Amino acid sequence: MSPAEIVKVNPTTPEKPLIKRAAEILLQEGLVAFPTETVYGLGANALDEKAILKIFEVKNRPSDNPLIIHISKIADLYLLSNNVVPIVEKVVKKFWPGPLTVVLPRSEIVPDAPVAGLPTVAVRMPNHPVARSLISAADVPIAAPSANLAGRPSPTSATHVVNDIGEKIDMVLDGGEIIYGVESTVVDFTSSPPMVLRPGPITVEELRKEIPELEVHPAVKGDVKTEVLAKSPGMKYRHYAPKAELIVVEGSKEHIREKVQEIVNLRKKEGKSVAVISTVENAPNYRADVVKIVGKRNDLREIAKNFFRILRELDIEGVESAVVEGIKPVGIGLAVMNRLKKAAGGKTIRTD
Ligand code: TXA
Ligand code: MG
Repeated sequence: MSPAEIVKVNPTTPEKPLIKRAAEILLQEGLVAFPTETVYGLGANALDEKAILKIFEVKNRPSDNPLIIHISKIADLYLLSNNVVPIVEKVVKKFWPGPLTVVLPRSEIVPDAPVAGLPTVAVRMPNHPVARSLISAADVPIAAPSANLAGRPSPTSATHVVNDIGEKIDMVLDGGEIIYGVESTVVDFTSSPPMVLRPGPITVEELRKEIPELEVHPAVKGDVKTEVLAKSPGMKYRHYAPKAELIVVEGSKEHIREKVQEIVNLRKKEGKSVAVISTVENAPNYRADVVKIVGKRNDLREIAKNFFRILRELDIEGVESAVVEGIKPVGIGLAVMNRLKKAAGGKTIRTD
């Protein structure tokens, strides 16, 4: 296959002819990568099993890991599920369009392929003009996982997409920067009470205002064996991993710096090249081969936005180890810590 056509698109008012062409590709079993407000997605017609199988192949995604189906209007939720209960209606009215995915029982029009044979379907209505106009132009629900190779950090720029899968898809719509940098919050409404399976930009705190009884799956914090507990198939795989070993240090602001430097020194003694992923405040104090700055300690939104890009940069620097300052697991910080711990595959150290 020839490499993807890479096209710049206006992120606020997408060019109509361009969107029309991308939609035609989707309707002919093609794959189009496009920006959403969270990360870049790899789109295919959700109702076309052949197109969906291509997604799994291109991403090298395990076939038991279901995809999120994207829609451009709330009415389409009722096509994908016959069980939209009042609490779901309330929540989607509040947070859609936006970075929230709801898991519901699936209707008979949803094929097996996108949901990996599950009785449920995950649905989201994104809030990005390019994503919305593309889905609406195609006029079919669009399955769209993050547009990275399975196991790699999610793409927050078109370049990340091209580097991972550019040779194997039809088109990349380059809409520049994304807004959040971590994937949507996934809430399962088939369990009672509803349960957060993946934390994201719509925070647990915000959701609890609408659903006081909401629970957070124990695997979300990354401190338990996810294989045993995995409810969402995506929870059990090691994700987001750079080639370097990743070590996360958690704890209070005062102690974290000392501990991070201690681990860097340990790895340096072993002859390894080591990076630190640091907040702005601590960066000048580190002695390491590379220091990457992720954002101000209290600006969790900024940290979320930079985080996947920095994981990818570690590969470019070619370091063998990276020690990362943990951040507060509140608000969008919970999503960042969740991805970070998955990337570290269990190498987490607490200072207190
Ligand atoms: O922000 C996002 O959600 C991005 C953009 C492109 O929209 N998409 C994304 O898709 O992150 P993906 O495929 O990388 O992640 C989908 C997650 C996986 O963890 C998967 O296991 C879970 O959603 N999921 C999908 N369908 C599910 C279902 N029926 N039940 C439980 N979990 C499900
Ligand atoms: Mg993904």
